[in-house]
Amino acid sequence: MLAGRNLIEPSNLSIEELDEVFSLAEKIIVDPSAFMDVCKGKILATLFFEPSTRTRLSFEAAMLRLGGSVLGFAEASSSSTTKGESLADTIRTVSSYTDIIAMRNPKEGSALLASKYSSVPVINAGDGGHHHPTQTLTDMLTIRAEKGSFSGMKIGLCGDLKFGRTVHSLAKALSRYPNNEFVLISPQELQIPEYITSQVFRAAGIRFTTEERLENVISDLDILYMTRVQKERFFNEQDYIRLKDSYILDKEKMKLAKKTMIVLHPLPRVNEIAPEVDTDPRAVYFKQVKYGMFVRMALIAKLTGAL
Ligand code: CP
Repeated sequence: MLAGRNLIEPSNLSIEELDEVFSLAEKIIVDPSAFMDVCKGKILATLFFEPSTRTRLSFEAAMLRLGGSVLGFAEASSSSTTKGESLADTIRTVSSYTDIIAMRNPKEGSALLASKYSSVPVINAGDGGHHHPTQTLTDMLTIRAEKGSFSGMKIGLCGDLKFGRTVHSLAKALSRYPNNEFVLISPQELQIPEYITSQVFRAAGIRFTTEERLENVISDLDILYMTRVQKERFFNEQDYIRLKDSYILDKEKMKLAKKTMIVLHPLPRVNEIAPEVDTDPRAVYFKQVKYGMFVRMALIAKLTGAL
């Protein structure tokens, strides 16, 4: 039963509940017009204390395509947060007006805190370097559509594995399925946090290796998940400048990869995937954007109890 629930991190949903959401998303993809009124009369609030293009707009498009309405703000400066209002009071207020809330906030743990004060479901749309569960649902729906399975995959996670919340969420989510193996491709300074290797991979008996050079391992991968080095998470600009172009996926590197490998990226990208790769049929990151809207439609319909 998903109605009334919060989504703070991917593990809030069981494997069966994830299947339920993906199956609904797939039905919506086949016949979107059959779902155009299911949230009629319901209101989604999008509270974005941090910039976003895809997450906020795909949430809003999702609710509008379900026949519901949307309100909210795209930056903290246009809310009473600037007057010193607490997150708890903001959430108490917004949940009095709406049926469901999607919130992005730079503070880790903020979505969980919001859920404690909300009278309606809260969806975490990203809390600092912590979690971004609807990006994970997006990534998983893309993998399900393009590869047909979440199991038996060799998955390369490449780039900023230290601060990348999408990486942390996806690693945890795919570790729940059998026979997956991870290749962690990053500079030393941006390695995945120790808690992921110990509490997620080792705890689940998941095989993983670390590697600094993408070209050494790309030929083995079934899925390559590229990420941006995130300027906004660095304290020191010199470190950002030194590391920002550590990985650039281009046509030459793609020649080394399997014909069946797929390339995902949560976007936005900066330099880490050359535009010349966009036309390669294995580059699915713009399809992934669209899957993100459909999976959010399914999630909103389920959490609001509309379906
Ligand atoms: N993938 C993602 O979260 O993109 P935005 O930051 O544009 O929402």
